[in-house]
Amino acid sequence: MTEIKILKIGGSVLTDKTVLESAKMEAIERIAAEIAGHDSGLILVHGAGSFGHIHAKNYSLVERLSREGVLETHRSVVRLNDLVVEALRRAGSSPVPVHPLSCTILRDGRIEAMQTDQFGEMVDWGLVPVLHGDVAVDRSRGAGIVSGDQLVTHLARSLEPEIVALGTAVDGVIFNGKVLAEVKREDLPEIGSELGPSAGVDVTGGMRGKLEELLDLADEGISSLIFNAEKAGMIERVLGGERAGTLVEVKA
Ligand code: IPE
Repeated sequence: MTEIKILKIGGSVLTDKTVLESAKMEAIERIAAEIAGHDSGLILVHGAGSFGHIHAKNYSLVERLSREGVLETHRSVVRLNDLVVEALRRAGSSPVPVHPLSCTILRDGRIEAMQTDQFGEMVDWGLVPVLHGDVAVDRSRGAGIVSGDQLVTHLARSLEPEIVALGTAVDGVIFNGKVLAEVKREDLPEIGSELGPSAGVDVTGGMRGKLEELLDLADEGISSLIFNAEKAGMIERVLGGERAGTLVEVKA
């Protein structure tokens, strides 16, 4: 079986989060080129940025079901997914889009069930699944948002990856102006108040939401990296097994 690597690229890296559906095409092309050389065993997840958050907020999808909002939000993130998939294909990779709306059920905003058997098969056959933050059916409220971060941790729990990494628009977890080399559960009370929301419109919690997801994963014995995917070369290094940014560590 191929060793699995799970990489998420945040929506702030791929889009301008303040302007509706504005993809940063140069960044997408560069990221695709970096990934293409290191895509064995890779499952890629990307955020929504200004392709999903703005629709989700306009339709108040986190608070209540909007049937129109489900369609519009999903279609929007699929448009970004298409751009990422096509860039990967041009770069020489073999991407295949996977839409969480079609294989995931939420309860109270958390994944209750998700079909994941296909991912091991895809990577074994040389395909690179490309998932994205999405809207999904929620048993308790009709529909909800499943963030790319939540998808990453859910996949990591079921697929035992060798690498779990989240590429963001910052160098890692920043406290007192410095990038922390590592963060453990016990550090959260001290650093928590400094963790800001994401720039632009964000319905899934910014850096704090990200860290909470990853600390839950660390509690289960899986460590992960938060690194800067806007810096050229970083994705290649991280996929090559290097440590960069902040390591979210399991308890000693
Ligand atoms: C959000 O996904 C999904 C929607 C709003 C539809 P993410 O939370 O993973 O997106 P980013 O990385 O913050 O943009």
